[in-house]
Amino acid sequence: MLRLGLRSSASSPGSSFTPCGGSTGCSSAPLVLLRALEDVGYVPEDGRSKARAANEVRRRRKIGDLPPVYPNGWYRVLDTCVLKRGQVRNVTVLGEQVAVFRGQDGKAYVLDAYCPHLGANLAVGGRVVGNCIECPFHGWQFAGNDGKCVKIPYAEKGFICPSVPDFVKVRRWPSCEVNGHIMVWFHCDGEDPQWTVPEKRAITQGEWVYRGRSEHFINAHIQEIPENAGDFSHLNHLHTPGIIFKFLQHEWKASWEPQSEPNTHCAKMFLNHSLILFGHRCSLGDIHVVASQVGPGLVFLDFEQILIGRGTIIQCVTPVEPLLQCVTHTIFYQWNVLPLIPKIILAGESVQFERDVMIWNNKKYVSKPLIVKEDSTIQRHRRWFSQFYSENSPRLQYQRDTFDF
Ligand code: FES
Ligand SMILES: [Fe+2]
Repeated sequence: MLRLGLRSSASSPGSSFTPCGGSTGCSSAPLVLLRALEDVGYVPEDGRSKARAANEVRRRRKIGDLPPVYPNGWYRVLDTCVLKRGQVRNVTVLGEQVAVFRGQDGKAYVLDAYCPHLGANLAVGGRVVGNCIECPFHGWQFAGNDGKCVKIPYAEKGFICPSVPDFVKVRRWPSCEVNGHIMVWFHCDGEDPQWTVPEKRAITQGEWVYRGRSEHFINAHIQEIPENAGDFSHLNHLHTPGIIFKFLQHEWKASWEPQSEPNTHCAKMFLNHSLILFGHRCSLGDIHVVASQVGPGLVFLDFEQILIGRGTIIQCVTPVEPLLQCVTHTIFYQWNVLPLIPKIILAGESVQFERDVMIWNNKKYVSKPLIVKEDSTIQRHRRWFSQFYSENSPRLQYQRDTFDF
């Protein structure tokens, strides 16, 4: 295994989690790959710009017979490190504007961003006061833990809780902070969370440290992205090294299984990669990957390799709009493995992922696909994924992109 001889203070076990470092300069600095929507997966014609190609595809593409656009589940809204105590950020998630702020108690809170008084955006110019957010327009204050208005600074008496009536409040989104991500729970009927986001103890305890992240915006329905795990037949076609290295071949063997009670919201994909050199399998190239999907928007890609050790990539898929997904991959790796190794893994994963993005950005959703026997896992995956939709799950509507509870 390629290990470091010394612990550096930035990467030793127990060091604080800081997933936002820069990408250049120092070899141990995390790798950060940020891609705009038009950067990946569009083919400009006749010398046109990528942005124009992206716009044209978005306008002309047939979208197909889509499932509901916002499945019930947990979604990442921000990384822990970008929200310091007393800071507030405006985030678009599931077509809504939310204010994400960190109170003086250190907890992250998520509230609807629009003030019920006259509609100002609490996250744009608002300030954190204690564990509340204060509106920038007239100074009303809302508590992070339940969204209730606790102060109207200019109202005659009645300006401190409990005098403000209970109905004066903004919606609070259930949230949690795990593995360096701030996550929110969405359910179309406002139901409480039905499962918790699992904590990776190797990350919390500092055995695996942050080595980089990528961020992509994808023009597709959310279901297309996790469905990749049930689509084995694309692996040896789309994810091959290309014709330049004919002596070198990748071979993928995959299986996928939904989990049983009480973890029916989870599924696992087992993926074994072999390297074929000049027609012979090279066992040093074996990689074992277990992709654990937890709900519709979170996957842990745990991998192990004899030479380069163990680590995980956390994939988060968050719908920004019905057909716009923000996908992040954050890599954590054994602290004592050369940082270059996880950075190469993340970069390689990104190359492969962008091949999928090209497909997703340009395809239509086919609700009744023509499949052969070998594709049957796609249908099993769809049946499993359908548990995240309920009767009132929002659907794409013409000229209307948001939902109501
Ligand atoms: S709009 Fe928020 S206090 Fe008036
Ligand atoms: Fe893929």
